[in-house]
Amino acid sequence: MCGIVGYIGENQAGPILLDGLSKLEYRGYDSAGIAVYDGSEIKMTKSTGRLKVLEELTHGGETMPGTSGIGHTRWATHGAPTDTNAHPHFNKDRSIVVVHNGIIENYIKLKKKLQSKGYEFISDTDTEVVAHLLDYYYKGDPLETVTKIMNRVEGSYALGIMFLDHPDELYAVRKDSPLIVGHAEGGNLIASDVPAVLKYTRRVYFIENEEVVVLKKDSMTFYNIDAEEIEKEPVTIEWDISAAEKGGYEHFMQKEMYEQPKAVTDTLNPRLKGSRIEIEELGMTDEEIRAVRKIFIVACGSAYHTGVTAKYVFEGLARIPVEVDLASEFRYRDPILEEGTLVIIVSQSGETADSLAALREAKARGCRVLGIVNVVGSSIAREADNVMYTWAGPEIAVATTKAYSTQLIAEYLLALKFAHVRGRINDEELAGYIRDLQLLPQQIEMLLNNKEKIQKFANRYIAAKDVFFIGRGIDYAISLEGSLKLKEISYIHSEAYAAGELKHGTISLIEEGTLVAAVLTQEDLYKKMISNMVEVKTRGAFILAVTNADNVEVEKSADYVIYIPKNNKYFTNSLAVIPLQLFGYYVAIGKGCDVDKPRNLAKSVTVE
Ligand code: F6R
Repeated sequence: MCGIVGYIGENQAGPILLDGLSKLEYRGYDSAGIAVYDGSEIKMTKSTGRLKVLEELTHGGETMPGTSGIGHTRWATHGAPTDTNAHPHFNKDRSIVVVHNGIIENYIKLKKKLQSKGYEFISDTDTEVVAHLLDYYYKGDPLETVTKIMNRVEGSYALGIMFLDHPDELYAVRKDSPLIVGHAEGGNLIASDVPAVLKYTRRVYFIENEEVVVLKKDSMTFYNIDAEEIEKEPVTIEWDISAAEKGGYEHFMQKEMYEQPKAVTDTLNPRLKGSRIEIEELGMTDEEIRAVRKIFIVACGSAYHTGVTAKYVFEGLARIPVEVDLASEFRYRDPILEEGTLVIIVSQSGETADSLAALREAKARGCRVLGIVNVVGSSIAREADNVMYTWAGPEIAVATTKAYSTQLIAEYLLALKFAHVRGRINDEELAGYIRDLQLLPQQIEMLLNNKEKIQKFANRYIAAKDVFFIGRGIDYAISLEGSLKLKEISYIHSEAYAAGELKHGTISLIEEGTLVAAVLTQEDLYKKMISNMVEVKTRGAFILAVTNADNVEVEKSADYVIYIPKNNKYFTNSLAVIPLQLFGYYVAIGKGCDVDKPRNLAKSVTVE
């Protein structure tokens, strides 16, 4: 994971690097560092802790004068989060300095080789190998050396590199870790992601695998791995920097929850043409849609949870068998991918290492791959056969909310499209489903505006030790997400269960006062759910129920009830998830947790 930045130009590099890193902290935040060329040598400051520690140490970058430099914010993989392991990393005489995002898989072998040549290592990182390897091959030509090490290093990397004897140049290269270049007035920048450069420019270049860029203050040149010059086209970023700032909200997570009505509308509307659904970017003819025999939905974390929901929707509406797989499992389990299999990869960042590897596996095995992706131009978006964007805008909080909600919308649209084309629903039924979908943004808004009830309830549970989420069918999928939202930001242990499963073991964990959040939005399963609630209540559980507006019966069995507006049974996840997001958020705030940057996590998981 980690985020890298670099700047070379006419302005002081330190403040620009720190500003860029502040936009990348979502990628990791256990330590940070910058290196700046001061006119005679490369100076470095780095430290464990959040970026603000580095800002204080360098007085906002001012104690490190110089107009070129590189910076890093870390999510530790190899080596604990310590000052020494923080990036940047130098070669032995401090003439080459490196920042790195990714994992060097053959670093032990390389380290041994370098040690046998007399190189001494001071950190436990895989990155330090790169600094010494560059040193080992360096004969005065940085480009030749950078391309040479690309053939030696295995794994994933986005590297920012400076050579003391080429102070007017900054080098960057990538393989399987994201890297962009920004061309700004008076200077050029590299970064792991667009928000880091957006303050200075909207003109960015997406660096592809095994490409190298050489930045000078007024030029940039791109090369392939053979050091041959290549042409690249810039992309103009349309969205605004304010989309990546808090805009008056206390936390990004809060802002992003409140952006859900808009994000859902933006994802839905472009695909609705009157009472029909048109998904041009799907790139499939009706005949091809009819030929699909099986769908795999592959993703990680919350994106995987949307896949669990989508399985119920696809199978219910389109009657196509759907398998939902965790990307980290799919990629290694030799899945049976027969002719007629469509693989859908769902990812907010479009950079999740396991999801990307699953995509490549599916493509290599001859499957058509559709990406449902939020970040435009990300690796999954570029490598999938077709990409359907979720127009959520930048999501900064580590815990996903609006991207999750838009992923659901994309999956509903696909399920309806498939169901209609395959003759499972007629025109009139499709028009009815579309009307229901169009109700969602205002219903989500209503739930967000009535946050007080859930906020009050959350305050009572900040000391909870264990929380269980239960549901059946689609409500089980919602429970998975509700449970993850709570535990990842509040550090309260929680688990989600298909309600019928409890008595096969888990019910023994229920004690007097244990909170059980029961989700019941599927009318045909109400009675079964009530029985499961009674089972835990008689064993002392306190029950929070989330159910449809008219289901007042539930008050007899639950201790506290949150009602969601009525909608189609296939789309209730989009509504029931809102109080659960709010619950997790308010419990975490009540406990004083850093909701936007929970411990040990990072937004974009670019390592497997
Ligand atoms: C949880 C969360 C994660 C992500 C997962 C996949 O709130 O955000 O579980 O859903 O890491 O990330 P993407 O969607 O970027 O592939």
